[in-house]
Amino acid sequence: MTRWLVTGAAGQLGTHLARQLPPSDVVALSRDELDITSPRAVTEAVRAARPDVVVNAAAYTAVDAAEADEDRAYAVNATGPRLLAAAVAEHGGRLIHVSTDYVFDGTADRPYEPGDPTGPRTAYGRTKLAGEHAVRAALPDCCVVRSAWIYGGPGANFVDTMLGLEQRRETVDVVADQTGSPTWVADLAGALIGLGLSSLTGRVLHYANAGTASWFELAQEVFRAVGADPDRVRPVTSAGFARPAPRPAWSVLSTAEWAACGLGDPRDWRSALREYLSGKT
Ligand SMILES: NC(=O)c1ccc[n+]([C@@H]2O[C@H](COP(=O)([O-])OP(=O)(O)OC[C@H]3O[C@@H](n4cnc5c(N)ncnc54)[C@H](OP(=O)(O)O)[C@@H]3O)[C@@H](O)[C@H]2O)c1
Repeated sequence: MTRWLVTGAAGQLGTHLARQLPPSDVVALSRDELDITSPRAVTEAVRAARPDVVVNAAAYTAVDAAEADEDRAYAVNATGPRLLAAAVAEHGGRLIHVSTDYVFDGTADRPYEPGDPTGPRTAYGRTKLAGEHAVRAALPDCCVVRSAWIYGGPGANFVDTMLGLEQRRETVDVVADQTGSPTWVADLAGALIGLGLSSLTGRVLHYANAGTASWFELAQEVFRAVGADPDRVRPVTSAGFARPAPRPAWSVLSTAEWAACGLGDPRDWRSALREYLSGKT
């Protein structure tokens, strides 16, 4: 039996991790139950759960809000992970820390490899990169897994937003000049569980569903999957959607190293999207 501790358990990833792990093997704590920025709470949670594997799914993920709130984002995305890593180092066990494509500058023209130079352009990205550095310094054996374009809920996410707009609007304008790999959170959760059950340590890896899409193409695929006319989605440029935090033009993460580690090949994003949407009807 592997004992798991999941932080941020009410978020998208935390919920799906808790759902997929055997209930008797997991302690899944929401922010209300464990604030990872509290040193004492973190130490006590790790001591009480005695986990073999901790998955840190807690994060400050409000990308725009972080621009005006970087200290708070840093506390959750860097200080909290450092506390978790230190507690795991003290009590034993392994840590999987989840990170993001936002650690890159988003200007590449090929999928980012884990070892590519980072260069965050947002407060969110800077704090997540600081979190990566913090956990690796405190616990060199930990694994950092970057993902991107996660959907599946609970809570707001792009795919559910498109489903809602399909019901309410005749046409929807969606940016076509940002490219990524849409990733169903259930697939990510399963992949992280596989990593936790493996003997791999001390890695920075990428996991995302395979293939690439623009937000426009993803929205069209959502419409198509629910039997709506994809031409109701209209391509626009990011210039019309000014936001506090600039969005990366290129968020595609290479999973070659993930597969080379024997962790399997992620499936295509369209297949994952179809399965997600079929479960909603
Ligand atoms: N969503 C994406 O597209 C995406 C893309 C790439 C990488 N990621 C990364 O993937 C991971 C999971 O993301 P997600 O989509 O599941 O995010 P999410 O749905 O926003 O979940 C994050 C959870 O962390 C909780 N949290 C915030 N501050 C906390 C604290 N101090 N202590 C404990 N919990 C706290 C949040 O609670 P509240 O809601 O109450 O604040 C929320 O339940 C994160 O590391 C994120 O950076 C996400």
